[in-house]
Formats: sequence, C-alpha cells, structure tokens
Amino acid sequence: MCGIVGYTGPREAGPVLLDGLRRLEYRGYDSAGIALVTQNGDLFVEKRAGKVAVLQDALGNRTPSAGIGLGHTRWATHGRPSDLNAHPHSDCTGRITVVHNGIVENFRELRSELLAGGHVLASETDTEVVAHLVEAAYEGDLADAVRSALRRLEGAYALVVMHRDEPDRLVGARLNAPLIVGLGDDESFLASDAAAIVAYTKRVIFLADGDVADLRPGTATITDRAGAPVDRPVDIIPWSAEAAEKGGYAHFMLKEIHEQPEALTAAMTGRLRHDKICLEELDPIRDRLAGIDRVEMIACGTAYYASLVGAALFQEWLGVPARSTVSSEFRYSPPPIDPHTLVVAVTQSGETADTIAAARLAGDRGALVVAVTNTVGSAITREAHASVFLQAGPEVAVAATKTFVTQVVTLVMLAADVAHQLGRLNAEAELGLVKALRRLPAQASRAIELAASTEEMAERYASANGFMYIGRAFGYPAALEGALKIKEISYLHAEGYAAGELKHGPISLLDADVPLVAVATRSAVYEKLISNLMEGRARDARVIAVATEGDTEIERLATDVCWVPDTLEPLSTILAVIPLQLFAYYVAVKRGRDVDQPRNLAKSVTVE
Ligand code: M6R
Repeated sequence: MCGIVGYTGPREAGPVLLDGLRRLEYRGYDSAGIALVTQNGDLFVEKRAGKVAVLQDALGNRTPSAGIGLGHTRWATHGRPSDLNAHPHSDCTGRITVVHNGIVENFRELRSELLAGGHVLASETDTEVVAHLVEAAYEGDLADAVRSALRRLEGAYALVVMHRDEPDRLVGARLNAPLIVGLGDDESFLASDAAAIVAYTKRVIFLADGDVADLRPGTATITDRAGAPVDRPVDIIPWSAEAAEKGGYAHFMLKEIHEQPEALTAAMTGRLRHDKICLEELDPIRDRLAGIDRVEMIACGTAYYASLVGAALFQEWLGVPARSTVSSEFRYSPPPIDPHTLVVAVTQSGETADTIAAARLAGDRGALVVAVTNTVGSAITREAHASVFLQAGPEVAVAATKTFVTQVVTLVMLAADVAHQLGRLNAEAELGLVKALRRLPAQASRAIELAASTEEMAERYASANGFMYIGRAFGYPAALEGALKIKEISYLHAEGYAAGELKHGPISLLDADVPLVAVATRSAVYEKLISNLMEGRARDARVIAVATEGDTEIERLATDVCWVPDTLEPLSTILAVIPLQLFAYYVAVKRGRDVDQPRNLAKSVTVE
C-alpha cells in the first residue's frame, strides 16, 4: 500500500530518502513527500500529489542539507490524492512529523477529541491525528510520546515519527503493516520494505506487531508499546540492490517474466531430494499434518488463482475435501474449521490484510495454518504454524508474474510432500513428478523463447474491445491469471472463464472485436476445450490458442498459436501462463500504459 523510509546518520538524508522512495514506488504512487530536520535545526517538508518524480521536480536543487529525515509514497485510503493529504503530516507546533502506512480506524473519534482540545488539523487523512496525539503526549522524549499515542490507536499502522528538537532520533512502530529497521555503520534506517535500503545496508530487523523502534545513528532499541525492551534478531537480506533493479529490461515486469526459470529453480532448491519432494519447513508440524482431514486455501488475486492448483492437487492426491476461497470472502462464510483442518494462506507479500485476517480467524478456530509467501519476516509468517517461502527474489512490478509460477510450483511440492507423508502418493507418481519438476526451469526458458511472437501478435490485438480467456482443469487458473494480467496493465476488459461456462452466457460477448484466448494445452480435457474454442470461432471471434508443441491439429483451428513445451498436467499452468504474461505485457506497451505501476493499484494491499 504505502511506502515508508526513514534515515538518521552521516549521509545527506534527502538523496537517501528520494532513492528509497523510488524503489518503494510500486507500493503506492498517488503522492510522495519527505521531511528533514536541516543542519539549521528547521523542519523542512515537501510533498506533492503524483509520483516521486513530481516531488523531485518540486524540490529541484533546493533540498536542504540534513542528516535525518523521513519519506513516504502514498496509496490513498482516507482522503483523495492531493498535496494536502500527502504525507508527512505535522502537529500544531510544526516540530513533529509523521509518515504512516495503514488505517487508523478510530480516527474520526480521535479527530473530534483533538479539535475539541484546540488542535488544528489541516488534512482529510487519518494519519494527521497521530502527529497531534504525539504532540499532546510529548514531554521531552519522543519514544515515550509515540508509545503513549499508540495506546490510543485502533487499526493498522507502520509509523515513523521525527521531532525537530531531537535531531538524530527516529521512532518507528508497527501493527499489522510491515516495517523494518536497517542498521549500517553509524547510520540507521526504517523502511516498509528492504528494497528501499538494501543499497545501504543488508543488516535488518523485522519488527513484530506491537514493536516500537527507537533509532539513533547506528543503534536501534526495540520495546513493546509499554516500553519494556524486546529482543529481535538481526537478519541479513540475501539479495543485492541490483536484484531490485531492472537489469537492462524496459520494465520490471519484463525482467521478472524472464527471471521465471531462475525463480523456479530457486523455489525448488533444497526441496527435491533424489526421487522425493521434501519441505523441511513442515518438519515441526508433521504430527499435526498426520491428522488433517480437510484443506482450505485462502488467497487474493494472482495468489488465489495459484491456490486453485494447490486445492485441486490436495484433493486429488490426499483424497480429502480441499478448496480455495478468496480471503476477503472467507471470513463472512467460514467453513467448518477444527484442529484437523489445514489452512494454506498464499500471499506473495505476506502483508495482504484480507489474507492475514482470514488466516487469523482460521488459527483462532484451531486450524493448522501454513503460509506460502515470498517475504521472510512478513505478517503472515506470524499467523502461521509453518511458513514455506517462494524463494523467488524481490518482485517489483505491481503485476505478479514470477511469484505466480513459484506459488504454483511451491503448492505442487507442498501437496506432494503432505500426500507422501500420509502415504497417499505412490513412489512411481512421485518420481514422475520430481523428474517433471527438474525439467521445468528449462521448459520455462523455452516457453519464453517461443512466446517471442506475442510482441507482433500484440500489434494486431491491442485495439480489441476486450478479451475472453477460457480454460479447463489446470488450464483454468492460467486463463484467469492471463485475463487478470490484461486487465491490470492494459486497462482492457478481459473475462477469465471456465471454458464449459462459455455457452452459459458470456459467449454473447464474442465477436470480431472480442478475441477468445483458449488455454488448450495437452490434457484429459483437450477435446472438450477444442469444442469450446470452436464455439468461439463460429461467432467470428479471432482465437488465440496456447497449445502444446507438436499439436498439429490446433493450427487449423486457431488464428494464432502460442506454443509451450509438454509437461505433466499439474505443471501445465506454469508454462501456459508465460505466453499470456508476455502477450499482456506487449498489449500494454502498445497501448502506452504504465506497465510497472498501473493506475489505481498497489503491490501490497494492506487494507481490508
Ligand atoms: O501479496 P499477495 O500475493 O497477497 O497479493 C495478492 C494480490 O493483491 C495480488 O496477487 C494482485 O492480484 C496482483 N496485482 C496481481 O498481479
């Protein structure tokens, strides 16, 4: 949602903050702002609606010299995107300034109370109340004042607070929104994501909910909200600053699509042992896994589509009921949950509020919760009894690509591992799966090569009125994900549909300007899928088929074919989605869209 960065140390804070904000921009880009305590002891604030580039233009070369500051990129929740609502927000005295990610749910009540007490609040935001609560509590010690203010807040927050009169001190706090501390030599950082600070330090502390971090240059003292010290380990970020850069590609999305073979390899590293699949992360919960009799998967967006593959495999291999529900609906109609229910929460960021809330509900009702996430130290890992990491490296583009394929492969391994433990996956099937998994990264490379044709195809399809994507069985999640990619980045309407449902309504949308994209890879449902494809042809729709190399029949039936290598059906989702990602990418480029930061979206959605 929003991106936060703070710095205290010997460097010029302005450039450090702007650099951090640029790297965090994928989290939100409705507005951006920085605050600095200048060498003269003044509080300098500049903030603008729009992207970080707008802020930078506004600053020109008048960023004052300062060794401390904080910055923010916003994805609006309370109050429209405007200069006034942009963070940082300050108190009445103009000495205290705050940046915030999350939502203060009781801000209306707090605002009325503050106004009645004589405070002057200028913006429409929930955040501004925090600056004034800190002001009201301040008696010469910023950390004490922040802790006191926190006790009044309900909702979610990652906060960084600075006081003009304590010009080397930053105070950060988190509850249900990510915040990490970075420790350098004689300098300290706060950030909502390591991408903002990894160029300066790899030594980080992942704050836990309820933590308050009191930073001076090179040191951080962590307490709870009552002021009692808490110990948090220092972790080392395993990826370089370069890993978060575009690496020569025009967009992060294109880079991340090309990283998929490597990401798949990384996701399987240490998990394929000769002819077996083994996720060590599950070892501490083996006793409970032995007793599961139902699987519920929860996820949002792309992660939800990946989870459909997981649910199908849990059901097929374990022989127990398994299904997937979007996290935001799960809570309103929760299924029966007991200690024999395995709940798998799938989330790239690990910070998606809907998924965290659903996982918490499941945990409270006694379920065994396993998180499948890309983000070590993220909130979901604290809700889960065990966490299985995607190991995909940072994903910067808002549109998920490499985390979709690594989610699918991780869920395949997870289902296989549990099925093996329960004695429900025979050795021959497991060996076949391991062999297919080992071939997958090279096949993903081949799928990327074969999809080069999507660039030219996009030229012919970029002016379509919309698209209909269809698939069956393991082709269905690929169709859903392909449609989501088009919607997100090209702003064209696309429906993702179970192919058999086409004739029950949406077929009326098809005509010469609404192409049909059919995931028609080799499978047990191939013939049925071909019938659905023909239904589209008969309505004058151009047909793009994703098909398995060597399929001689499909070329006669489709207008265009995107070829992918042959694999086992459960893995076909991974290869089929690759040309659909690239097709969506090139359509968006042809339409002149902001591919990496599409309008109205945020990489990580930390509000419900
Ligand atoms: O971080 P998460 O995996 O929990 O995020 C879930 C969705 O918000 C995310 O997949 C979203 O749909 C992406 N923009 C898809 O490209």
